[in-house]
Amino acid sequence: MANNAGIIGMGHAFPEGILTNADLEKIVETSDEWITSRTGIKQRHKAAEGEYTSQFGTKAAKQAIERAGLQPEDIDLIVCATTTPDQIMPSTGALIQAQLGATNAAGMDIFAACSGFLYGLTMVESMIRTGQIRNALVIGAEVLTKYVDYTDRGTCVIFGDGAGAAVLAPVAEGKGILATKIRSDGRYEEALYAPGGGTKLGTTHETIDNRDHFFKMKGNELFKVAVRSMAEISKEMLDKAGYSVEDVDLVIPHQANQRITDAVASRLGVPEEKVYSNIAEHGNTSSASIPIALDECLQSGKIKEGSLVLLTAFGGGVTWGGTVIRF
Ligand code: UT7
Repeated sequence: MANNAGIIGMGHAFPEGILTNADLEKIVETSDEWITSRTGIKQRHKAAEGEYTSQFGTKAAKQAIERAGLQPEDIDLIVCATTTPDQIMPSTGALIQAQLGATNAAGMDIFAACSGFLYGLTMVESMIRTGQIRNALVIGAEVLTKYVDYTDRGTCVIFGDGAGAAVLAPVAEGKGILATKIRSDGRYEEALYAPGGGTKLGTTHETIDNRDHFFKMKGNELFKVAVRSMAEISKEMLDKAGYSVEDVDLVIPHQANQRITDAVASRLGVPEEKVYSNIAEHGNTSSASIPIALDECLQSGKIKEGSLVLLTAFGGGVTWGGTVIRF
């Protein structure tokens, strides 16, 4: 019989360093007023020199494994969603595997920008359902502040660092992931990309002078597509799961921008109190934003046994996804 896959433990981690809007006012021409009113962000976490992505992924994963009541050896697969890996090779998932001592697991990365966590959930769900694996870690881990251009005020004010992790395993009938879907449209490549360092441009004096190794973003081009895509896939997944918007206890959208969150909620017709937001404290942490938010909601009791939760994400690629989970 097919297994339902659900989340049985979560964790999250941040670097200690904080970058406030006041700090950014000293770096680029911006203001707390602009950042707050355009994005909802007041501060973001920032890794120090010498701190890197796998460390935060491992910290979050350890907490998730412990809360699931498992040992690292019980994990069969580690999927790390990241757009800011420690290095090109090996994968951050493999590095996390070593740091955890998860000796029976395979480790790998997913490159789907801010939708990466939902990409991971979707892949792992089907592997658990078919019985190919039993326990898997899906991690979203990012140190975006090292890929952000602090001369570009259009991007540097929104991104922050952090990691969230979930242990997925078979759960009882009617619980766990009820519907999930991922999408992409690579025609939007240049709306959010880091062109340097790959096989196309390589790493040359010119790419470095052009700052091609940093993220470049056309934020306002992404805005509309993000709202439309997240609202559409959310409705589609609720339909597929056999629920309506009124049945949902909590919506956790990728924390891209408070205005995007508000616009998605309004398109879906979900009241503000049912939509979770932590963007003021953490900024946009890309693939880490949904698992961090989920863990915060589990810890605070906002999500309880039986809660119906809708997750939706949108990111560079462009990529997007929607997932309906019964806890
Ligand atoms: O994580 C998933 C993928 N990313 C996203 O989904 C991001 C989506 N986009 C956004 O969140 C927003 O587009 C931003 C927050 C990035 C930008 O906000 P916006 O309201 O779209 O601003 P804009 O880019 O249209 O710029 C409006 C004005 C411009 O000035 P002019 O040309 O009107 O004089 C910008 O130069 O605001 C200016 N501006 C700033 N001013 C002060 C842009 N960034 C800043 C800044 N401080 N940091």
